[in-house]
Amino acid sequence: MKIGIIGAGHVGLVTGACFADLGHQVMMVDDDRRKVAALRAGRVPFFEPGLEELVRRGMAHGRLRVTRAIPEAVDCSTLLFVCVGTPTRPNGEADLSAVETVTRRIARSMRAYRLVVEKSTVPVQTGAWMRRTLREMVRRGVDCDVASNPEFLREGCAIQDFLHPDRIVIGAESERARRLLVDLYTPFHAPLVVTDVSSAELLKHASNSFLALKISYINAVAQVCERVGADVVKVADGMGLDRRIGRAFLDAGVGWGGSCFSKDVAAFTRIATAHRCDASLLRAAAGINRRQRPYAVARLRRLLGPLRGRTVGVLGLAFKPDTDDLRDAPALDIVPKLRAAGARVRVFDPKAMPAAKKLLGRGVTFCRNAYEAARGADAVMLLTEWNEFKELDVTRMASLMRQPVVFDGRNLYDPAAMRRAGMRYAGIGRGQMQQTAHSTQHTEKAGKKR
Ligand code: UGA
Repeated sequence: MKIGIIGAGHVGLVTGACFADLGHQVMMVDDDRRKVAALRAGRVPFFEPGLEELVRRGMAHGRLRVTRAIPEAVDCSTLLFVCVGTPTRPNGEADLSAVETVTRRIARSMRAYRLVVEKSTVPVQTGAWMRRTLREMVRRGVDCDVASNPEFLREGCAIQDFLHPDRIVIGAESERARRLLVDLYTPFHAPLVVTDVSSAELLKHASNSFLALKISYINAVAQVCERVGADVVKVADGMGLDRRIGRAFLDAGVGWGGSCFSKDVAAFTRIATAHRCDASLLRAAAGINRRQRPYAVARLRRLLGPLRGRTVGVLGLAFKPDTDDLRDAPALDIVPKLRAAGARVRVFDPKAMPAAKKLLGRGVTFCRNAYEAARGADAVMLLTEWNEFKELDVTRMASLMRQPVVFDGRNLYDPAAMRRAGMRYAGIGRGQMQQTAHSTQHTEKAGKKR
């Protein structure tokens, strides 16, 4: 098929490169001159495993082309996927200006039938607006459709997620639109959910918000675990074996980050509120997530005492492993909080260092590896569970530190193995409160009551 992709960000570029690899003719559009130049030279402007190879292959075979001009893509493509950003406005609602601009530009260039597909995450009823706008603006006699085809890929494993999805959602109003998308996706051998446009739009917001709720739920459970000396990892393992619950997204930690969850929970809250529906569950999830970041610093303070004059090594800055994306990363809150409390901070991330230098700036030491970040530290704080941190030589780490203390903000390590290696270990919700002075008193009091 002939496919145009408007917006070469994480979703757009993965979509375009994968479709090209599957044999379709793809024209990518982005208005960022530098991004287009980089792509034409075979360079992907962000880190996503395997993507650069796919882009290069698509270009070498002539199936993937890049332009800055929307009309060029409209001319040569039957399907046009809109993959532009929908950031959050200060009031929480989604900023749809890029979607609106692209829709109008597509309308102005359309000379024959085109199916315009929203892939960007948009509030319900955006598709209806796009359809109205296109139909008002296109020249007489030209037919068009709007469909919704939300994307569920995760950064860091985006290609795998795109090519092997749990499900493909197609929201369409006409038989022609439905048929085009069903034909496009049939070779994926994934369950197809074929529905109307509004249900497809809502399904995406509801899915991301539910995953965010799961994370906040387990973080709330983790706090109880900490108070009573239980281990949240075991609790999550046990809960997850129930097929009605599932183990995924029950990893307690410093909370969610990234470009999607906070934005989508805020947008869904706005939509629910605007329709006078109860959004309290969504607000509670966002609140728990916000508080995880200062809570992590408070936990460290409980381990070390006042942070003034202490040195803290931070391992991991990206919002999750296998990406260099720092958008809404917990580290961007936690590192400045450590600095504000008077700590010296040494940081290392396998991929996000160049971007972090711009954002974290002065007063932070940027290190070449995890061991360098741990050198002379009073504690190491793990904020992103990169695989290479799993394999660290803990005894060597401990020997480099001023005090062998680890705060594991992602529950990556086995507490017993850490302690055997001589580390004082604290994770999230792993019963460790009992090791601190505060919790010893708490335990004694609880013991007396019993
Ligand atoms: C998320 C969704 O998982 C995708 O399905 C969706 O397509 C995407 O948003 C989007 O809307 O574009 P992503 O943000 O790339 O994907 O990454 P996730 O793997 O979902 O992780 C999000 C955050 O939650 C990370 O900070 C991660 O560390 C955190 N997380 C995840 C936890 O704290 N605990 C968990 O158990 C799982």
